[in-house]
Amino acid sequence: MSRQEKVTISVIKADIGSLAGHHKVHPDTILAASRVLADAKKKGTIKSFYITHAGDDLQLIMTHYKGVDNPEIHELAWKAFQEATKVAKELGLYAAGQDLLSDAFSGNIRGMGPGVAEMEFVERPSEPVVIFMADKTEPGAFNLPLFKIFADPFNTAGLVIDPRMHDGYIYEILDVYEGMVVEMKAPEEMYDILALIGTPARYIIKRIYRKSDREIAAVVSSERLSLIAGRYVGKDDPVMIVRAQSGFPAVGEILEAFSFPHLVAGWMRGSHHGPLMPVGLRDSKVTRFDGPPRVIGLGFQIKNGELIGPADLFDDPAFDETRRLAQVITDYMRRHGPFMPHRLGPEEMEYTTLPQVLEKLKTRFKPFELGYKPVVKAEGSEEVHD
Ligand code: F6R
Ligand code: MG
Ligand code: MG
Repeated sequence: MSRQEKVTISVIKADIGSLAGHHKVHPDTILAASRVLADAKKKGTIKSFYITHAGDDLQLIMTHYKGVDNPEIHELAWKAFQEATKVAKELGLYAAGQDLLSDAFSGNIRGMGPGVAEMEFVERPSEPVVIFMADKTEPGAFNLPLFKIFADPFNTAGLVIDPRMHDGYIYEILDVYEGMVVEMKAPEEMYDILALIGTPARYIIKRIYRKSDREIAAVVSSERLSLIAGRYVGKDDPVMIVRAQSGFPAVGEILEAFSFPHLVAGWMRGSHHGPLMPVGLRDSKVTRFDGPPRVIGLGFQIKNGELIGPADLFDDPAFDETRRLAQVITDYMRRHGPFMPHRLGPEEMEYTTLPQVLEKLKTRFKPFELGYKPVVKAEGSEEVHD
Protein backbone atom coordinates (compact mmCIF):
# COMPACT_ATOMS: atom_id res chain seq x y z
CA MET A 1 0.00 0.00 0.00
CA SER A 2 1.44 3.36 -0.91
CA ARG A 3 2.03 5.93 1.78
CA GLN A 4 -0.27 8.31 -0.11
CA GLU A 5 -3.29 6.21 0.73
CA LYS A 6 -2.69 6.39 4.45
CA VAL A 7 -3.65 9.49 6.35
CA THR A 8 -1.79 10.41 9.55
CA ILE A 9 -3.22 12.25 12.54
CA SER A 10 -0.57 13.94 14.67
CA VAL A 11 -1.51 15.47 18.00
CA ILE A 12 1.48 17.32 19.43
CA LYS A 13 1.22 19.41 22.61
CA ALA A 14 3.37 21.57 24.82
CA ASP A 15 3.04 23.94 27.73
CA ILE A 16 4.72 27.04 26.37
CA GLY A 17 3.45 29.43 29.01
CA SER A 18 0.19 30.27 30.68
CA LEU A 19 -1.97 33.20 31.67
CA ALA A 20 -2.07 33.86 35.43
CA GLY A 21 -0.04 30.92 36.66
CA HIS A 22 -0.30 27.42 35.17
CA HIS A 23 -3.98 27.45 34.37
CA LYS A 24 -4.85 28.53 30.84
CA VAL A 25 -3.31 29.14 27.41
CA HIS A 26 -3.39 32.78 26.19
CA PRO A 27 -5.31 33.21 22.89
CA ASP A 28 -2.43 35.18 21.32
CA THR A 29 -0.14 32.16 21.61
CA ILE A 30 -2.80 30.08 19.85
CA LEU A 31 -2.83 32.71 17.08
CA ALA A 32 0.96 32.59 16.74
CA ALA A 33 0.92 28.79 16.37
CA SER A 34 -2.04 29.04 13.94
CA ARG A 35 -0.05 31.31 11.62
CA VAL A 36 2.72 28.70 11.37
CA LEU A 37 0.32 25.85 10.66
CA ALA A 38 -1.77 27.90 8.20
CA ASP A 39 1.39 28.59 6.25
CA ALA A 40 2.29 24.87 6.26
CA LYS A 41 -1.20 24.04 5.03
CA LYS A 42 -0.82 26.52 2.18
CA LYS A 43 2.47 24.87 1.22
CA GLY A 44 0.87 21.42 1.37
CA THR A 45 2.98 20.08 4.24
CA ILE A 46 -0.17 19.33 6.20
CA LYS A 47 -3.68 18.73 4.94
CA SER A 48 -5.58 20.34 7.79
CA PHE A 49 -5.22 21.41 11.40
CA TYR A 50 -7.09 22.46 14.50
CA ILE A 51 -5.48 24.24 17.44
CA THR A 52 -6.93 24.27 20.91
CA HIS A 53 -5.86 24.14 24.52
CA ALA A 54 -6.34 21.83 27.46
CA GLY A 55 -5.66 23.93 30.55
CA ASP A 56 -2.18 25.38 30.10
CA ASP A 57 -1.24 23.08 27.20
CA LEU A 58 -1.24 24.25 23.60
CA GLN A 59 -2.60 21.46 21.41
CA LEU A 60 -1.78 21.07 17.73
CA ILE A 61 -4.02 18.61 15.90
CA MET A 62 -2.81 18.00 12.34
CA THR A 63 -3.55 15.66 9.45
CA HIS A 64 -1.10 14.86 6.66
CA TYR A 65 0.20 12.06 4.44
CA LYS A 66 3.76 11.83 5.73
CA GLY A 67 3.41 9.03 8.31
CA VAL A 68 4.24 9.00 12.01
CA ASP A 69 7.55 10.34 13.36
CA ASN A 70 8.02 12.45 10.24
CA PRO A 71 10.86 14.98 10.72
CA GLU A 72 9.10 17.66 8.64
CA ILE A 73 5.92 17.45 10.73
CA HIS A 74 7.82 17.38 14.00
CA GLU A 75 9.89 20.37 12.96
CA LEU A 76 6.71 22.20 12.00
CA ALA A 77 5.25 21.58 15.47
CA TRP A 78 8.52 22.70 17.05
CA LYS A 79 8.42 25.90 15.01
CA ALA A 80 4.80 26.55 16.01
CA PHE A 81 5.72 26.12 19.69
CA GLN A 82 8.73 28.41 19.27
CA GLU A 83 6.62 31.15 17.67
CA ALA A 84 4.01 30.76 20.41
CA THR A 85 6.81 30.93 23.01
CA LYS A 86 8.03 34.23 21.52
CA VAL A 87 4.57 35.70 22.10
CA ALA A 88 4.41 34.12 25.57
CA LYS A 89 7.69 35.83 26.44
CA GLU A 90 6.54 39.18 25.02
CA LEU A 91 3.39 38.98 27.15
CA GLY A 92 5.37 37.85 30.17
CA LEU A 93 3.23 34.72 30.44
CA TYR A 94 4.09 32.38 33.25
CA ALA A 95 6.64 29.61 32.58
CA ALA A 96 7.07 30.74 28.96
CA GLY A 97 8.72 28.00 26.91
CA GLN A 98 8.47 25.53 29.82
CA ASP A 99 8.16 22.29 27.83
CA LEU A 100 10.74 23.10 25.16
CA LEU A 101 13.60 21.34 26.91
CA SER A 102 16.11 21.83 24.12
CA ASP A 103 17.32 24.88 22.20
CA ALA A 104 17.64 23.25 18.80
CA PHE A 105 15.46 20.82 16.86
CA SER A 106 17.21 17.58 15.99
CA GLY A 107 14.90 15.58 13.71
CA ASN A 108 12.32 14.18 16.15
CA ILE A 109 10.30 16.12 18.68
CA ARG A 110 9.94 13.06 20.93
CA GLY A 111 12.22 13.41 23.94
CA MET A 112 12.44 17.19 23.55
CA GLY A 113 9.59 18.01 25.93
CA PRO A 114 6.35 18.13 23.90
CA GLY A 115 3.93 15.17 24.05
CA VAL A 116 3.16 13.28 20.84
CA ALA A 117 0.38 10.89 19.79
CA GLU A 118 0.24 9.91 16.12
CA MET A 119 -1.53 7.23 14.12
CA GLU A 120 -1.63 6.31 10.45
CA PHE A 121 -4.41 4.39 8.73
CA VAL A 122 -6.35 3.94 5.51
CA GLU A 123 -9.37 6.21 5.89
CA ARG A 124 -12.73 4.43 6.05
CA PRO A 125 -15.63 5.93 4.03
CA SER A 126 -16.70 7.55 7.30
CA GLU A 127 -13.92 7.90 9.86
CA PRO A 128 -14.93 9.19 13.32
CA VAL A 129 -12.10 9.81 15.78
CA VAL A 130 -12.04 11.17 19.32
CA ILE A 131 -9.10 13.15 20.61
CA PHE A 132 -8.65 13.38 24.36
CA MET A 133 -6.41 16.01 25.93
CA ALA A 134 -5.79 16.09 29.68
CA ASP A 135 -4.12 18.66 31.92
CA LYS A 136 -2.42 18.24 35.32
CA THR A 137 -1.92 14.52 35.00
CA GLU A 138 0.29 11.88 33.35
CA PRO A 139 0.00 9.47 30.37
CA GLY A 140 -0.90 6.53 32.65
CA ALA A 141 -4.14 8.40 33.47
CA PHE A 142 -5.57 6.89 30.28
CA ASN A 143 -4.79 3.30 31.40
CA LEU A 144 -8.05 2.85 33.28
CA PRO A 145 -10.40 4.26 30.61
CA LEU A 146 -8.51 2.38 27.87
CA PHE A 147 -8.95 -0.87 29.74
CA LYS A 148 -12.65 -0.18 30.09
CA ILE A 149 -13.10 0.87 26.46
CA PHE A 150 -11.31 -2.06 24.82
CA ALA A 151 -11.53 -4.88 27.37
CA ASP A 152 -14.50 -4.40 29.69
CA PRO A 153 -17.85 -5.63 28.33
CA PHE A 154 -19.63 -3.83 31.18
CA ASN A 155 -18.41 -0.59 29.57
CA THR A 156 -18.36 -1.55 25.91
CA ALA A 157 -21.35 -3.55 24.79
CA GLY A 158 -19.78 -4.03 21.34
CA LEU A 159 -17.21 -6.46 22.78
CA VAL A 160 -20.09 -8.88 23.29
CA ILE A 161 -22.48 -7.80 20.55
CA ASP A 162 -20.42 -6.73 17.51
CA PRO A 163 -18.77 -9.67 15.68
CA ARG A 164 -16.03 -7.32 14.41
CA MET A 165 -14.94 -6.58 18.00
CA HIS A 166 -15.61 -9.96 19.55
CA ASP A 167 -12.03 -11.27 19.10
CA GLY A 168 -10.76 -8.50 21.34
CA TYR A 169 -7.82 -6.13 21.15
CA ILE A 170 -4.04 -6.12 21.50
CA TYR A 171 -2.53 -3.81 24.12
CA GLU A 172 0.98 -2.44 23.54
CA ILE A 173 2.28 -1.54 27.01
CA LEU A 174 5.42 0.48 27.73
CA ASP A 175 7.67 0.24 30.75
CA VAL A 176 8.83 3.87 30.75
CA TYR A 177 11.40 3.27 33.50
CA GLU A 178 13.27 0.66 31.46
CA GLY A 179 12.36 1.64 27.89
CA MET A 180 10.74 -1.74 27.15
CA VAL A 181 7.51 -2.67 25.40
CA VAL A 182 5.23 -5.73 25.55
CA GLU A 183 2.16 -6.75 23.51
CA MET A 184 -0.65 -8.43 25.40
CA LYS A 185 -4.01 -9.79 24.32
CA ALA A 186 -7.41 -8.98 25.75
CA PRO A 187 -9.50 -10.75 26.90
CA GLU A 188 -7.08 -13.73 27.20
CA GLU A 189 -4.42 -11.95 29.26
CA MET A 190 -6.66 -9.45 30.95
CA TYR A 191 -5.52 -10.18 34.53
CA ASP A 192 -1.84 -9.87 33.54
CA ILE A 193 -2.61 -6.64 31.67
CA LEU A 194 -4.24 -5.25 34.82
CA ALA A 195 -1.25 -6.35 36.95
CA LEU A 196 0.90 -4.01 34.84
CA ILE A 197 -1.33 -1.06 34.01
CA GLY A 198 -2.50 -0.70 37.61
CA THR A 199 0.95 0.92 38.09
CA PRO A 200 0.25 3.84 35.75
CA ALA A 201 3.41 5.83 36.59
CA ARG A 202 5.54 3.08 35.08
CA TYR A 203 3.41 0.99 32.71
CA ILE A 204 1.63 3.05 30.08
CA ILE A 205 -0.71 1.79 27.40
CA LYS A 206 0.88 3.17 24.24
CA ARG A 207 -1.21 1.67 21.43
CA ILE A 208 -4.18 -0.61 20.94
CA TYR A 209 -4.83 -2.71 17.84
CA ARG A 210 -7.92 -4.66 16.81
CA LYS A 211 -6.92 -8.31 17.05
CA SER A 212 -8.80 -9.58 13.98
CA ASP A 213 -6.90 -7.38 11.48
CA ARG A 214 -4.32 -5.39 13.51
CA GLU A 215 -6.00 -2.11 12.62
CA ILE A 216 -4.77 0.68 14.88
CA ALA A 217 -7.50 1.67 17.35
CA ALA A 218 -5.85 4.02 19.86
CA VAL A 219 -2.56 5.76 20.63
CA VAL A 220 -1.39 7.73 23.68
CA SER A 221 1.48 10.18 24.16
CA SER A 222 3.99 8.57 26.51
CA GLU A 223 6.51 11.32 27.21
CA ARG A 224 7.28 11.78 30.91
CA LEU A 225 8.99 15.12 31.40
CA SER A 226 10.73 14.31 34.67
CA LEU A 227 12.22 11.16 33.11
CA ILE A 228 13.51 13.28 30.21
CA ALA A 229 14.85 16.19 32.24
CA GLY A 230 15.87 14.27 35.39
CA ARG A 231 14.07 16.80 37.55
CA TYR A 232 10.53 18.05 38.06
CA VAL A 233 9.52 20.26 35.14
CA GLY A 234 5.76 19.86 35.21
CA LYS A 235 3.43 16.96 34.63
CA ASP A 236 3.16 15.19 31.35
CA ASP A 237 -0.39 16.16 30.50
CA PRO A 238 -1.19 13.41 27.98
CA VAL A 239 -3.12 13.26 24.71
CA MET A 240 -4.79 10.29 23.07
CA ILE A 241 -6.41 9.49 19.72
CA VAL A 242 -9.15 6.82 19.54
CA ARG A 243 -10.91 5.60 16.37
CA ALA A 244 -14.64 4.99 16.76
CA GLN A 245 -17.60 3.04 15.30
CA SER A 246 -18.00 0.28 12.69
CA GLY A 247 -15.87 -2.37 14.41
CA PHE A 248 -14.31 -0.01 16.90
CA PRO A 249 -16.06 1.06 20.12
CA ALA A 250 -18.91 3.52 19.55
CA VAL A 251 -18.25 7.15 20.51
CA GLY A 252 -20.68 6.65 23.40
CA GLU A 253 -18.78 3.57 24.61
CA ILE A 254 -15.52 5.52 24.45
CA LEU A 255 -16.99 8.42 26.45
CA GLU A 256 -18.68 6.10 28.94
CA ALA A 257 -15.25 5.15 30.32
CA PHE A 258 -14.85 8.77 31.50
CA SER A 259 -18.11 8.79 33.46
CA PHE A 260 -16.13 7.63 36.50
CA PRO A 261 -13.76 10.38 37.73
CA HIS A 262 -10.94 8.01 38.73
CA LEU A 263 -7.95 9.16 40.76
CA VAL A 264 -4.90 10.14 38.75
CA ALA A 265 -1.47 11.50 39.62
CA GLY A 266 -0.65 15.15 38.90
CA TRP A 267 -2.61 18.18 40.10
CA MET A 268 -0.76 20.76 42.21
CA ARG A 269 3.01 20.62 41.55
CA GLY A 270 2.54 17.28 39.80
CA SER A 271 2.61 15.73 43.27
CA HIS A 272 -0.98 14.88 44.18
CA HIS A 273 -3.71 12.39 43.40
CA GLY A 274 -7.03 13.82 42.34
CA PRO A 275 -10.10 12.92 40.25
CA LEU A 276 -9.97 13.24 36.46
CA MET A 277 -12.87 15.58 35.60
CA PRO A 278 -14.26 15.51 32.04
CA VAL A 279 -15.15 19.04 30.87
CA GLY A 280 -16.20 20.99 27.79
CA LEU A 281 -13.76 23.39 26.15
CA ARG A 282 -15.07 26.43 28.01
CA ASP A 283 -14.13 24.76 31.32
CA SER A 284 -10.70 23.74 30.17
CA LYS A 285 -8.82 25.68 32.81
CA VAL A 286 -7.32 24.41 36.02
CA THR A 287 -8.18 26.71 38.89
CA ARG A 288 -8.72 24.97 42.23
CA PHE A 289 -5.35 23.88 43.66
CA ASP A 290 -4.20 24.06 40.01
CA GLY A 291 -6.86 21.53 39.12
CA PRO A 292 -8.57 19.27 39.58
CA PRO A 293 -7.02 17.33 36.68
CA ARG A 294 -9.24 17.75 33.63
CA VAL A 295 -9.80 16.07 30.31
CA ILE A 296 -11.49 17.39 27.19
CA GLY A 297 -12.72 15.19 24.35
CA LEU A 298 -13.13 16.47 20.80
CA GLY A 299 -14.83 14.40 18.12
CA PHE A 300 -13.86 14.77 14.44
CA GLN A 301 -14.64 13.09 11.16
CA ILE A 302 -11.65 12.63 8.87
CA LYS A 303 -12.67 13.03 5.21
CA ASN A 304 -10.09 12.96 2.43
CA GLY A 305 -7.54 13.84 5.07
CA GLU A 306 -9.51 16.86 6.30
CA LEU A 307 -10.48 17.32 9.93
CA ILE A 308 -14.24 17.91 10.03
CA GLY A 309 -15.46 19.26 13.36
CA PRO A 310 -14.95 19.32 16.27
CA ALA A 311 -17.79 18.23 18.51
CA ASP A 312 -17.09 19.22 22.12
CA LEU A 313 -18.08 15.87 23.58
CA PHE A 314 -17.99 16.49 27.34
CA ASP A 315 -19.99 19.72 26.98
CA ASP A 316 -23.07 17.75 27.93
CA PRO A 317 -25.28 17.57 31.06
CA ALA A 318 -24.90 13.77 30.84
CA PHE A 319 -21.50 14.34 32.50
CA ASP A 320 -22.79 16.72 35.21
CA GLU A 321 -23.02 13.97 37.81
CA THR A 322 -19.46 12.84 36.99
CA ARG A 323 -18.31 16.41 37.51
CA ARG A 324 -20.28 16.70 40.74
CA LEU A 325 -18.70 13.50 42.06
CA ALA A 326 -15.30 14.85 41.00
CA GLN A 327 -15.98 17.97 43.11
CA VAL A 328 -16.90 15.85 46.12
CA ILE A 329 -13.73 13.77 45.67
CA THR A 330 -11.76 17.01 45.28
CA ASP A 331 -12.97 18.21 48.69
CA TYR A 332 -12.29 14.84 50.28
CA MET A 333 -8.77 14.48 48.85
CA ARG A 334 -7.82 18.09 49.62
CA ARG A 335 -8.56 17.60 53.28
CA HIS A 336 -5.59 15.21 53.47
CA GLY A 337 -3.27 18.16 52.80
CA PRO A 338 0.34 16.91 52.50
CA PHE A 339 -0.55 13.33 53.48
CA MET A 340 -0.54 10.29 51.22
CA PRO A 341 -2.51 9.09 49.36
CA HIS A 342 -3.40 12.67 48.35
CA ARG A 343 0.30 13.48 48.08
CA LEU A 344 2.08 10.99 45.80
CA GLY A 345 4.28 8.22 47.20
CA PRO A 346 8.05 8.68 47.72
CA GLU A 347 8.99 7.00 44.38
CA GLU A 348 7.16 9.74 42.51
CA MET A 349 8.49 12.52 44.74
CA GLU A 350 12.08 11.83 43.74
CA TYR A 351 12.36 14.97 41.68
CA THR A 352 11.00 17.30 44.35
CA THR A 353 12.23 18.47 47.76
CA LEU A 354 11.77 15.10 49.45
CA PRO A 355 15.32 13.78 48.75
CA GLN A 356 16.72 17.14 49.94
CA VAL A 357 14.80 16.90 53.23
CA LEU A 358 16.09 13.35 53.77
CA GLU A 359 19.64 14.45 52.98
CA LYS A 360 19.40 17.32 55.46
CA LEU A 361 18.20 14.98 58.22
CA LYS A 362 20.73 12.23 57.48
CA THR A 363 23.04 13.01 60.41
CA ARG A 364 20.13 13.49 62.81
CA PHE A 365 18.71 10.00 62.36
CA LYS A 366 20.03 7.78 65.21
CA PRO A 367 19.83 3.97 65.51
CA PHE A 368 16.67 2.64 67.16
CA GLU A 369 16.20 -0.90 68.49
CA LEU A 370 13.04 -2.07 66.74
CA GLY A 371 13.14 -5.49 68.35
CA TYR A 372 13.14 -7.20 64.96
CA LYS A 373 15.18 -7.17 61.77
CA PRO A 374 13.22 -5.27 59.12
CA VAL A 375 13.08 -7.14 55.82
CA VAL A 376 12.73 -4.48 53.12
CA LYS A 377 13.01 -5.54 49.51
CA ALA A 378 14.21 -2.88 47.13
CA GLU A 379 12.31 -3.14 43.83
CA GLY A 380 13.75 -5.92 41.67
CA SER A 381 16.26 -7.10 44.29
CA GLU A 382 16.40 -9.78 46.91
CA GLU A 383 18.42 -7.56 49.22
CA VAL A 384 17.62 -7.68 52.92
CA HIS A 385 18.51 -4.63 55.02
CA ASP A 386 19.62 -5.43 58.50
C1 F6R B 1 1.56 21.21 37.71
C2 F6R B 1 1.82 22.63 37.55
C3 F6R B 1 1.54 23.55 38.66
C4 F6R B 1 2.83 24.09 39.26
C5 F6R B 1 2.54 25.03 40.44
C6 F6R B 1 3.84 25.66 40.98
O1 F6R B 1 1.85 20.54 36.54
O2 F6R B 1 2.27 23.05 36.51
O3 F6R B 1 0.73 22.97 39.62
O4 F6R B 1 3.65 23.03 39.69
O5 F6R B 1 1.70 26.06 40.05
O6 F6R B 1 4.47 26.30 39.94
P1 F6R B 1 5.81 27.14 40.09
O7 F6R B 1 6.81 26.24 40.75
O8 F6R B 1 6.17 27.47 38.68
O9 F6R B 1 5.48 28.35 40.92
MG1 MG C 1 2.26 24.57 33.22
MG1 MG D 1 -0.34 21.44 31.57
